[in-house]
Amino acid sequence: MQTLHTLAELRAAVQQHRRNGKRIALVPTMGNLHRGHLRLVKTALQHADIVITSIFVNPLQFGANEDLDSYPRTLAEDQQQLAAEGCHLLFAPSVAEVYPDGQDAQTLVEVPGLSDLYCGASRPGHFRGVSTVVCKLFNMVQPDVAVFGLKDYQQVAVIRKMVRDLCIPVEIIGVPTERADSGLALSSRNGYLSAEELARAPALQRVLQQVASAVRGGEQNFDLLEQQAQAELEAAGFSRDYFRIVNRYTLLPAEPNDDKVILAAARLGPARLIDNLEI
Ligand code: PAJ
Repeated sequence: MQTLHTLAELRAAVQQHRRNGKRIALVPTMGNLHRGHLRLVKTALQHADIVITSIFVNPLQFGANEDLDSYPRTLAEDQQQLAAEGCHLLFAPSVAEVYPDGQDAQTLVEVPGLSDLYCGASRPGHFRGVSTVVCKLFNMVQPDVAVFGLKDYQQVAVIRKMVRDLCIPVEIIGVPTERADSGLALSSRNGYLSAEELARAPALQRVLQQVASAVRGGEQNFDLLEQQAQAELEAAGFSRDYFRIVNRYTLLPAEPNDDKVILAAARLGPARLIDNLEI
């Protein structure tokens, strides 16, 4: 597997593959790879001849008091895992390579509406940072297909809308969430948890399962279910962020007959955990 750090090298490599008629997939990540990321690479390999994974801890999507500086950077381990998985090319640019004029002078991509809900409400500017960097990565790589994890359900919705609105010629594929045996969604941020917090963390998925089975059982008072879920999470040691039963496509509060997904985020000690469950 090749590792490239500059846009010029990336463009040259991509051009070569294109000339050879290859179909190209992009898997954008921030590194510190785990089985969830590798599942995206596996899926990408099924949809393209050449898989390019990007690793870039994007400062533009971190809030002022968030974990940009402490975010785990593990390039050597990541390279080994990607090579073992059969990834063809790793693109790991510097901040200056992605934001040559500085991030404050960067043209921004803003997806209205969707970006202000849920994670966007708790993390102002977060999705503007995500849509901007993902748009840039799409323009850098010009992939036929790009693969994202449904663990970040709202992120996939924001990216699908950006691609539609800006007519970007890329197919977006969403991949189901990879979990620990406990049910906990794998996340680089799980590394911030103590052993005791790690033992509590699976409660988030358990409460999602309980609410999903209540909805499947016919309960239609979603407000009540959401309040009960928040209370259960607080009893399990989480502090509340959001827990909402929403329409799968609009992400707006669900009507009983909608295709639904439950979106949840909660803080446990130093980490903010998110998870979701389609009903
Ligand atoms: P990051 O958190 O590194 O995640 C990279 C990709 O891996 C995302 O598409 C995410 O949804 C997916 N992923 C993470 N945990 C997963 C799990 N347990 N199962 C399945 N997929 C999982 O998300 C980002 O980076 C950034 O916002 C990015 C899109 C790279 C833009 O900077």
